[in-house]
Amino acid sequence: MLENQKRKIILDCDPGHDDAIAILLAAGNPSIELVGITTVAGNAEVEKTTLNALKVCEIAGLHDIPVLKGCGQPIVRKRETAPDIHGDSGMDGPVLPEPSKTIEEEHAVDFIIRKLLESDGEITLVPTGPLTNIAMAIRREPAILPKIQEIVIMGGGTFGNWTPTAEFNIYVDAEAAEVVFDSGVPITMMGLDLTHQALATEEVSERIAAIDNPAAKFVSDLLVFFRKTYLEVFGFEHPPVHDVCCVAYCIDPSVVEAKKVRVDVETKGELTYGTTLVDVHGVTGREPNVNFAMKLDHTKFWNMVAEALKSYSKVYSDR
Ligand code: BDR
Ligand code: CA
Repeated sequence: MLENQKRKIILDCDPGHDDAIAILLAAGNPSIELVGITTVAGNAEVEKTTLNALKVCEIAGLHDIPVLKGCGQPIVRKRETAPDIHGDSGMDGPVLPEPSKTIEEEHAVDFIIRKLLESDGEITLVPTGPLTNIAMAIRREPAILPKIQEIVIMGGGTFGNWTPTAEFNIYVDAEAAEVVFDSGVPITMMGLDLTHQALATEEVSERIAAIDNPAAKFVSDLLVFFRKTYLEVFGFEHPPVHDVCCVAYCIDPSVVEAKKVRVDVETKGELTYGTTLVDVHGVTGREPNVNFAMKLDHTKFWNMVAEALKSYSKVYSDR
């Protein structure tokens, strides 16, 4: 990549409290070009996650970033959503006005294919929800494969949060995840091992609350709700903002320490459907297919988020 050139990403998401913060980090950091926001069914139905993406754009003044609706169902299994964690809307907590912005007519899968085929291989895909859209794009147009710079995934881990061994994004559409992990494209994986280190501590929440603009206020409100559900459902003192780790890595890969490992996705197990088998110790002897993030630089991470949120003050002062 040339120096000073922005890293182009397509954020494929299911907002989602942490997805929403991921959007704000991507759009608020000068080294990222957010080519588009594509949505998928995950935390809530795709109509809801799409409306939430539009609301995030509205509150942050992101009028020029296209939002495209994607798949409403996993490829094989029945849809599952996460209202206990994200509320019925998928992004409960903050009260936001109806957006004036609308979605593009193109389907998210078509947009991903078109943008990649038009590119010179400089676009990174950042899926922070179930992998349905990405797998559908790969299956529909395999010619995109050599065009993808990298796929930076939030999903999986060496333990689960939806079943004892499966993480939500992978569990919801494990067949899609299998397609992606077996694609041969360079993959960086932000699994639960990493994302559970991205905790919004009270100190972090206070720091964000001190930033005086509507985007930061929105994030504060998101964190209040997320803190409550993470305590109720998982007994966590502080909520982990999983999806934000993917964008932080795209901005500065040194925010994590990672290791090349083999990862396979279980799609047949009666009790283990959606589990990622992360071969941390190399016992399979198989060629690594994933750059597996293991340790987060918490200070660097939250500095990035705070700087991005401060950047929205300018959006409002320019209005
Ligand atoms: C993942 O599931 C969703 O609840 C979050 O948005 C995140 O992408 C964590 O398991
Ligand atoms: Ca998500």
